[in-house]
Amino acid sequence: MSHVYLSRQLTPPAMVAARELGPPLVVHDDPDTPPSRDQLLRGAQGATALITLLTDRVDAELLDAAGPGLRIVANCAVGFDNIDVDAARTRGVVVTNTPGVLDEATADCAFALLLATARRLVEADRFVRSGREWIWGPQSFVGLDVSGGATLGIVGLGRIGMAVARRAAAFGMRIRATGSRATGDEARGYGVEAVELPRLLAESDVVSLHCPLTPDTHHLIGGPELAAMKPTAILINTARGPVVDEAALVTALEAGVIAAAGLDVYEDEPRLHPGLRALDNAVLLPHIGSAGRATRDAMGLLAVDNVRVVLAGEPPRTPVPT
Ligand code: DGY
Repeated sequence: MSHVYLSRQLTPPAMVAARELGPPLVVHDDPDTPPSRDQLLRGAQGATALITLLTDRVDAELLDAAGPGLRIVANCAVGFDNIDVDAARTRGVVVTNTPGVLDEATADCAFALLLATARRLVEADRFVRSGREWIWGPQSFVGLDVSGGATLGIVGLGRIGMAVARRAAAFGMRIRATGSRATGDEARGYGVEAVELPRLLAESDVVSLHCPLTPDTHHLIGGPELAAMKPTAILINTARGPVVDEAALVTALEAGVIAAAGLDVYEDEPRLHPGLRALDNAVLLPHIGSAGRATRDAMGLLAVDNVRVVLAGEPPRTPVPT
């Protein structure tokens, strides 16, 4: 009998829902590491549905390994750059993602990185823990004043970018943004000014990336773009690593071309450019943007629900945009 293959344990409520789907559920047995390519190919064989994560490459080979009974690939992430959507489409396989349920958690994470880098919190924490003597000083750990007039540039103002804009507006930041929603009413309500990327880079004190990874956004931020930013500027990336040329970023941070970076994602995740770890002016997180308890429940439940409706012959709730 065909089965639903789940490439990693989800949170308990999503696991309950997945077990209630109907077809037998086959779950990759290691909760902490993704299936190897071989395990993934084997697990997918004969499946009617795959529930995948951003760590799984879903390509023609995997779709063919699953075979003609495969109806849906439900990615448990809003990003779906791990999936060859065209290969799925030509095989009649529906692809879904989890938009909308992780906007606030990811925006919280982006804003946490913004504050941590602007006010040098992690560097200061390391200093205190080092046991070195200290006393209050007028020039100690001075950073960027976020409230009351710093300019935030949001690259790719979509749902998550808008949630970041809302936070920035509450902090009294000036906001510039690129992206189709930058001219809409909601954006205007937060005081967003729609600009092209060169102006955004030149005028922003903090640049926060919220675009999907596509061929057009690969290395959108490289050496020339970093050089176009202010020397006091900060780059935040909670989107996808390859949007930034990581080697160029390391060079820029080392040389003081920009002041700091807050990163949740990496170009060759989970590997990091060797230079990054040595930098005091980089705050580094292990891709935890959506890691809120309720958010992770909601992501898993939405992925499972997409499987449920598609197997019932209904339209998917959140098909990937075409
Ligand atoms: C996503 O959903 O694409 C995030 O990167 C992981 O939650």
